Amino acid sequence: MTLTAPAASTLEPLGPSFGAEVHGLDLAAIDDGQVAALRQALVAHKVLFFPGQDLTDDEQVEFGRRLGQLTAAHPVAAPLDAAHPEVYSIDSADPDFSFSDVWHTDVTFMEHPPLASILRAVELPPTGGDTSWADSQLAYESLSAPVQRLVDSLDAVHDGNREWGHHLKHGRRGQGNEWDGKTVTELTPVVHPVVRVHPESGRKGLFVNPGFTSHIVGVSEAESRGILDLLYAHLTKPENTVRHRWHVGDLGVWDNRSTLHYANRDYTAQRVMRRITLAGDRPWGPAR
Ligand code: SIN
Repeated sequence: MTLTAPAASTLEPLGPSFGAEVHGLDLAAIDDGQVAALRQALVAHKVLFFPGQDLTDDEQVEFGRRLGQLTAAHPVAAPLDAAHPEVYSIDSADPDFSFSDVWHTDVTFMEHPPLASILRAVELPPTGGDTSWADSQLAYESLSAPVQRLVDSLDAVHDGNREWGHHLKHGRRGQGNEWDGKTVTELTPVVHPVVRVHPESGRKGLFVNPGFTSHIVGVSEAESRGILDLLYAHLTKPENTVRHRWHVGDLGVWDNRSTLHYANRDYTAQRVMRRITLAGDRPWGPAR
């Protein structure tokens, strides 16, 4: 994959493997060539940061539409407001706020998890509230061959009830949003391959996460726990991660097909982020 920056911008890698800062682009006014280059850069670098963009909610939505098809804000959480059904407000002062302080990939508890997420920093605590990402392809590629062969053959159940079941049952609305063509009224666990083949690069990555994966299919509970613990410890080794210190106006875009992330819960002042997500395909594994 060529690592070219979109025209008129510079792309500064954050580490040897993944993550990059993009400078010199105005995301509210990018052209089609720059959009295509950004899509390529996202697959190659997995998480891209655009410092100081200061987009409005509408401009964030418009930028997302240039990159792909937007989903509802979230399968369960209510959107920002009626004018922004695609915007998920992640506001630590919200009574329904759910800290993202567990490694996860967004919405893997649905059959079609989002391809990418686009997060904007609106209000930040004076310090803290960083987000980290883990590279699931680097993690897979650095496993030994026998363990790769084992995980290549496995499927896992992802269950949104772990984090969102309570909100769906006892939330203010009693139902979620439209996802996969249906209004979400319950969260039926779904099965995904443990190793996901990236639909654009063909690279394999681990596709399990402590937030939503409940167990491995067809093995005992103890075996499932042991395999998942091994994979989680490996995924989150420091050399497989990058960390971003947010500034108001920053925008981050990440590929949910090749990363996990974790929001540090180390702040007490209000932190407000706005997220939109791009519709994705059904994950497939090496056996397909
Ligand atoms: C998320 O989990 O998508 C949000 C991460 C963050 O708030 O930093």
